Amino acid sequence: MKGFFKSSIGKKLVMSITGLFLILFLLFHMSMNIVAIISGEAYNKVCEFLGTNWYALAGTAVLALGFLFHLVYATILTIQNRKARGNDRYDNQNLPAGVEWSSKNMFVLGAIVFVGLILHLSHFWSKMMFAELAGCEGLQFGATDGAAWINYYFSQWYNVVIYLVWFVAIWFHLNHGFWSAFHTLGASNSKWIPRLKCISTWFTSIVMGGFALTVLVAFFTAK
Ligand code: HEM
Repeated sequence: MKGFFKSSIGKKLVMSITGLFLILFLLFHMSMNIVAIISGEAYNKVCEFLGTNWYALAGTAVLALGFLFHLVYATILTIQNRKARGNDRYDNQNLPAGVEWSSKNMFVLGAIVFVGLILHLSHFWSKMMFAELAGCEGLQFGATDGAAWINYYFSQWYNVVIYLVWFVAIWFHLNHGFWSAFHTLGASNSKWIPRLKCISTWFTSIVMGGFALTVLVAFFTAK
């Protein structure tokens, strides 16, 4: 068993399972943000409900763990591939020359996603869940006033630009990661790969489009 997770296919399996788990989180997170467009009050009720309850904390811990595994295994796989292939570091052996740009740049895209995530957590998580846990006082808005934080950050044009650029990087990362995960899990015939690629593009566009919509609505409706 230990040997399996050290093998290349074992590592790819960890990448695909943790990747799909993170994608599910994004779907949930985007759906929750859409509530903020419809009603700030309803959104804050959801924020209150999640708050710092044990289930929200457990969810955050599992999420952080999934993210950590995804990141560590991505780094190990990338280092191994580079060592094995020198400059020709492309890993998927049997794909044609016209393969997408994003598939060759998953690690770099992942790194951009990571940097954006740190900024995002410092904007929201640190002022909300963390602030509540740490008993921080005197912040502009309350720990469960997600709607106010959204309106505050996205009334600033530079945050809108940074987030939209971040979403583009995530779009490319997910668009490849989604179908690639199913490929690793066994979907490999010539019928299913094109279908999965199509589903991947639609799914990714809907999820990232939802995030972009939240940001843009907040920007254009900001007082
Ligand atoms: C419109 C875009 C987004 C908005 C308005 C938004 C809003 C928020 C808010 C309000 C929180 C704090 C929740 C709390 O602590 O109670 C949060 C946490 C978080 N966000 Fe986002 N988010 C957006 C996009 C994203 C994206 C694209 C990602 C991932 C790539 C992401 C990942 C996270 C993570 C990992 C947390 C911490 C979750 C936890 O504590 O369990 N967010 N976000």
